[in-house]
Amino acid sequence: MKNIVVLISGNGSNLQAVIDACRQNKIDGRICAVFSNKADAYGLLRAKQADIPAHVISPKNYADRQAYDEALKHTIDQYQPDLVVLAGYMRILTSDFVQHYLGRLLNIHPSLLPKYPGLHTHRKAMENCDTEHGTSVHFVTEELDGGPVILQAKVPIFADDQEEDVIKRVQTQEHNIYPLVINWFVEGRLSMINGKAYLDGNSLPPQGYAVE
Ligand code: GAR
Repeated sequence: MKNIVVLISGNGSNLQAVIDACRQNKIDGRICAVFSNKADAYGLLRAKQADIPAHVISPKNYADRQAYDEALKHTIDQYQPDLVVLAGYMRILTSDFVQHYLGRLLNIHPSLLPKYPGLHTHRKAMENCDTEHGTSVHFVTEELDGGPVILQAKVPIFADDQEEDVIKRVQTQEHNIYPLVINWFVEGRLSMINGKAYLDGNSLPPQGYAVE
């Protein structure tokens, strides 16, 4: 069974979706550890409730980003992960860290990439009067939110929506697509070669696998 390590910074609802999917055998793998850069992340409780070792590595104990990521990498590697999953992990990664896990590092980002990398994506979509928004699962590369997209899910934006409505709608989709993609990876169906994502040996288009 493949070893999955999950990195979080907050609520951990995506972590919960992955925990549930592992329990229901929708993911043929096990989460062997959860790491947070924030001591008060609610996701740490979710990990503990699921009997998953949970670590806080606090940036204030390290001189700089390089030292932090080196310590994080060292501790993660004690779990011999096949896959490292970023689930609302809100820190910029060093290139050394990304290179070390290249091809086995996934992220979920709340926008239809390449639209709206960075923060406050829902607000930006609403300010631009977009009628749809969404979420993307992608391989992580050194370009922030720029690695090849594997799968996206779209949601509508309605005229009377508040930002919170759109956030919730997007997260519901995240909880569906992230476990699915993680399972593709642990089943050996998904890879990244020369900066492109492949599923079952077929290179995926820029918007990722799409059934529509
Ligand atoms: C998710 O919506 C995820 O897409 C986003 O943070 C949220 C975490 O929620 N990630 C990013 O913005 C990364 N750039 P969660 O802690 O409840 O899973």
